[in-house]
Amino acid sequence: MADAEVPFAVYQNQVYAQGLGGALPPQPFAYHALEERARGVLTPGAYGYIAGGAGNEDTMRANLEAFRHWRLEPRMLRDVARRDLRTSVLGTDMPAPLMLAPVGVQSIAHADAELAVARAARSTGVPMVLSTASSSSMEDVAAANGDGARWFQLYWPRDPDFAISLLQRAERAGYRALVVTLDTSTLGWRPRDLELAYLPFLHGEGTANYTSDPVFRAALAQTPEQDPLAARAHWAAIFANNTLTWDNLGFLREHSRLPIVLKGVLHPDDARRAVDSGVDGVIVSNHGGRQVDGAIAALDALPRVVSAIPDTFPVLFDSGIRGGADIVKALALGAKATLIGRMYMWGLAAGGEAGVQQVIQGVLAELDLTMALCGYESLSELRADILVRA
Ligand code: FNR
Repeated sequence: MADAEVPFAVYQNQVYAQGLGGALPPQPFAYHALEERARGVLTPGAYGYIAGGAGNEDTMRANLEAFRHWRLEPRMLRDVARRDLRTSVLGTDMPAPLMLAPVGVQSIAHADAELAVARAARSTGVPMVLSTASSSSMEDVAAANGDGARWFQLYWPRDPDFAISLLQRAERAGYRALVVTLDTSTLGWRPRDLELAYLPFLHGEGTANYTSDPVFRAALAQTPEQDPLAARAHWAAIFANNTLTWDNLGFLREHSRLPIVLKGVLHPDDARRAVDSGVDGVIVSNHGGRQVDGAIAALDALPRVVSAIPDTFPVLFDSGIRGGADIVKALALGAKATLIGRMYMWGLAAGGEAGVQQVIQGVLAELDLTMALCGYESLSELRADILVRA
C-alpha cells in the first residue's frame, strides 16, 4: 500500500469496478451523509458527544470555515504519474501524511471500538494514536494493531505514580511516541452533553486504561469490579490535572524514552516554548472545537505556529479536516502530517472495522487525486504559495 507506484487513487477504480458486479459501497463517502448514517445508529447521547463542541460551537464552525478561506489553484500539463505520499514523523513511517487522532470512549460508537480502529489502521498502514480514555486497555489495542504503527495519547493524571505506570505500559506495548494533550486541564463546556446529562466516563465507558492499571487499582479500597462507583469517583478525582506547567515536562522525559509530542498548541509563543523545552513535536489543534468556544480556528493558528519555530521541528495538525483536499491545504500551510477525528468515528459507528477502513481509503484516495489534479507529485511541492486566499 505504501508503494509509490500504486497510487491511492486506484481505490476509486475499485469502487467503480465493484459497481459493475452490482456491489455498492456499504456507507456514504461524503462527510455529512456519513455523519447522518452514523446518527441513525447511535443513541442521542453518543451522537451528541461525538458531533458536539464547546459552547455555541463557534470554534467548531470556524475550524471548517478556515478551510473554505483557502483555495487550491490547480496547475495543468504536468507529469503527475509517479506520486509518492510517503513520509516519516519522529521515526514512524507512514504511507501518507495521515494519522488517526486520539478519540476516547469509542465503545459509545460501536461495540468493537478501538479494537476495530486498530485493525483498520493496521490494514491500511495508517498510524493510530490511542487515547488514554479508551474503552479497551492499551495492551489489548496493541494486540489488535499488531505490527501497525501506534502512538499513545496521555491525559496526564493528577497521580504521578499512575502517570509513570501509563508511560511504562505504553512503551512496553509498542507505542512509538507520546502525545500529551494540553488543552484538557478540565472538560470544556459542552451544552449537547449537558442537556442530556451525558458523560460516558461516569457510566464506566472509556476507563479501561485506568481500571486495568495496577497503580490505579492499588489506590482503591475494593477492586473496580467489586465497587465500580468508587472506581469512577477515583477516576473523576485524578483524570484532569490543572496544576501542570511547562516545568513539569521534564517529568515525562525522566520516565519515558519515547518522542514527546504536545497536542493542543495554538499560540506561536507556546510553540517556541515547546521547542525550548526539548520536546520533539507539536500538534496544532483545538480538540475539534470541543474545549474553548471562541478559540482561533486551528487552521488559522497553523501558519503562525509554523513561522515561529525552526523548519525542522515537526508540526502536525488536526481539527476540521473533512476530506483529502483539506489535508492538501494543511500540508501546504506547513503541517508535516495531519490527523482526522470525527471522520473515522462516523465510519466506526456506521460499519465497525470495515467502516473505518472505507473512511481511510476514501481520504487517502481523495488526497492522492487532489494532488494529481492540482499538478503535484510530491509532498515537498505543497507550500503556502500553492494556495490563494478566497
Ligand atoms: C476527541 N479528541 C480527543 N483528543 C485527545 O487528545 N484525547 C481524547 O481522548 C479525545 N477524545 C475525543 C473524543 C471525541 C468524540 C472527539 C470528536 C474528539 C480530539 C481529537 O483528538 C481531535 O483533536 C479532533 O477530533 C480533531 O477534530 P475533527 O477532525 O474531529 O474535526
